[in-house]
Amino acid sequence: MIQIPVTICQLADGHFFNEEHQLKEEPIGIFDSGVGGLTVAHAIKQILPGESIIYFGDTAHLPYGDKSAESIKQYSRKITEFLLEHNAKVVLVACNSASASAFDTLKKEFDGRTILIDVIDPVVDYLSTRDFDTIGVIGTKRTISSGTYENKLKKRMPKAKVVSLATPLLVPMIEEGFIFDDISNAIIRAYLSDPTLKSIQALILGCTHYPIIKNQISKIFNFNIEIVDSSRIVAETLRDTLENNNLLNRGRKGKDQFFISDYTAYFEKIARMFFEGEINLRKADIWS
Ligand code: DGL
Repeated sequence: MIQIPVTICQLADGHFFNEEHQLKEEPIGIFDSGVGGLTVAHAIKQILPGESIIYFGDTAHLPYGDKSAESIKQYSRKITEFLLEHNAKVVLVACNSASASAFDTLKKEFDGRTILIDVIDPVVDYLSTRDFDTIGVIGTKRTISSGTYENKLKKRMPKAKVVSLATPLLVPMIEEGFIFDDISNAIIRAYLSDPTLKSIQALILGCTHYPIIKNQISKIFNFNIEIVDSSRIVAETLRDTLENNNLLNRGRKGKDQFFISDYTAYFEKIARMFFEGEINLRKADIWS
């Protein structure tokens, strides 16, 4: 296919990109601390099959949920630089802990260089179109202690009651491969039978790892409440953003690329589960 060179590409939000090639054909940058963001990446591939992705799993610093906001900002900044160096056309922060602690900083620091999307605002937008009285949020210690979901939901839905619960064991449990067994069921039950979550009508999975155990979570509530899984909601927001900025890829599709900062066999296993077959997984030591 003939590449149409464009020297300057203007985005709908007024920003300019100075590129020698078609920005549209470049990959979507996505990052998380580990496998969690793959749930979002998977939803993106279903909704936008014409797009390629470049994924960074910061397995060397996992879990983010136990780290300080300062550390998460530092990791997120460096990963965003890495994704942009690899020509990502937008950057999706597919991690709630990073969205809660680092997104505002990233937006300021990368203003004019790229479009950033987080995983919290699209969920808040979605819920504001629904009529729930009581909403629960589960997430990492970092996400829950930041109060980000509660504050943003309260602004948009002042009448709704929002209750939140940190469920810190779920990420290491998933990253260690305890997913559909007695151990995972016992941990999930122990957390979710907390009285805080009594009488909720919807539960936000405020961590991108949690969609992997969505069915077990749903089962604890007898499939009676709405489990709000951000992956599809965020993928739809991404589609709208690409469309509005004339960045949807209608040309040549590149190869998906997966980077991790430390090798874990489990990452590879889960990535293969989501993306079937061979995946192009490489270790990138961006910290030295
Ligand atoms: N998947 C991430 C999140 O959404 C990170 C979890 C972690 O590393 O603690 O918060």
